[in-house]
Amino acid sequence: MKEPDFHIKALSERQTNGQLRKLEGDPIASFDFFSNDYLGFVHDAVVKPKDSGLRSGATGSRLLSGDSSRALLLEQYLADYHHMDAALLFQSGYMANLGLLSCVAKRGDTIIYDNLVHASLRQAVQLSPASTYSFKHNDIADLRAKLNRSKGTVFVVVEALYSMDGDEGALEDICSVCSAFGAYLIVDEAHSTGVYGAKGRGLVDQLHLKDAVWARIHTFGKAAGIHGAVVLGSEHLIDFLINFSKPFIYTTALSDHSLDAIHTAYKMMQSDHARQQLWDKVRYFEDCLSKAGLEEQFYPSNSPIKSLKVDGAAESLRISKEIRKAGYMVKAIRYPTVPKGTERIRLCIHKHNTEEQIKGIIELIRNQVR
Ligand SMILES: Cc1ncc(COP(=O)(O)O)c(C=O)c1O
Repeated sequence: MKEPDFHIKALSERQTNGQLRKLEGDPIASFDFFSNDYLGFVHDAVVKPKDSGLRSGATGSRLLSGDSSRALLLEQYLADYHHMDAALLFQSGYMANLGLLSCVAKRGDTIIYDNLVHASLRQAVQLSPASTYSFKHNDIADLRAKLNRSKGTVFVVVEALYSMDGDEGALEDICSVCSAFGAYLIVDEAHSTGVYGAKGRGLVDQLHLKDAVWARIHTFGKAAGIHGAVVLGSEHLIDFLINFSKPFIYTTALSDHSLDAIHTAYKMMQSDHARQQLWDKVRYFEDCLSKAGLEEQFYPSNSPIKSLKVDGAAESLRISKEIRKAGYMVKAIRYPTVPKGTERIRLCIHKHNTEEQIKGIIELIRNQVR
């Protein structure tokens, strides 16, 4: 896939003007006159994890004092793991989305996004100088209509697994349409990371669509159990972000601790055993739901996210309160997190939910909705 012309031009201008930003790994000299570690706490035994050799903080942004070979190696590991060329770490999925979408498009370009994408993607799109349109959730005809109207370089933004309804993005069709229109496809894999695909590589990998997707965001705050995120793409895209993505450039880098935690979580994610146990529980839940005759009361979903349809905000609060009284933690999800009229109780099925617990919560729901 050829990179957007504006990215090629912007990077080459920086190179010509001696303004190109590059990551440098570990510091090459020993006297610190560049970090923000004013009080030396990073090297202080009280703050520093004892005997670990790890820095408690990164002391600055990646382009100042916060870079390290640990971060660079982890990025290479993540790129290899997900079968992509290059990777760039961010402090969270929210930051990754802001960091990517605020800078990829210029005035005169177009960003089109599914109308059910996460708040972080919506806000990210608002930060872009491009024209922006949403298309109806997973509606390929509407996406085509918006693509027909779009100007300049076009970016399409979707999720692999939608966090509120628990349904999958129509990725195969979206890839075909984007490729027919020459649009750059960006997929947020926040909820599919660790859950879908061999080794938890995500839905794009499971569907063998990686060559049709220009950039992916994988987050570590969900199935990986920690925090942080990575943007995956071409080396050119990563160079572009290092130079133009403000949420990457102007913030303190992840600590050594966080980097190690990400690495450890990924090593754990390699085993498909836990993932299989999770999917067994998801299928068990679905089986119990169907036996209880409650399938229609839930939004259609094959994933671990199961949302019970409820009649308005007050009812969602009432039901969630009743369920919680019995010791089951659930949350009512209301407007503006979801559109008005689609209030719900959102359940996430986990590997560690027992069959007893699953039967228990379904029984509670049955008593509430009948
Ligand atoms: C689809 C999606 N993208 C991004 C995020 C933000 O990720 P993080 O919690 O790592 O900031 C979320 C969080 O819920 C999400 O659901």
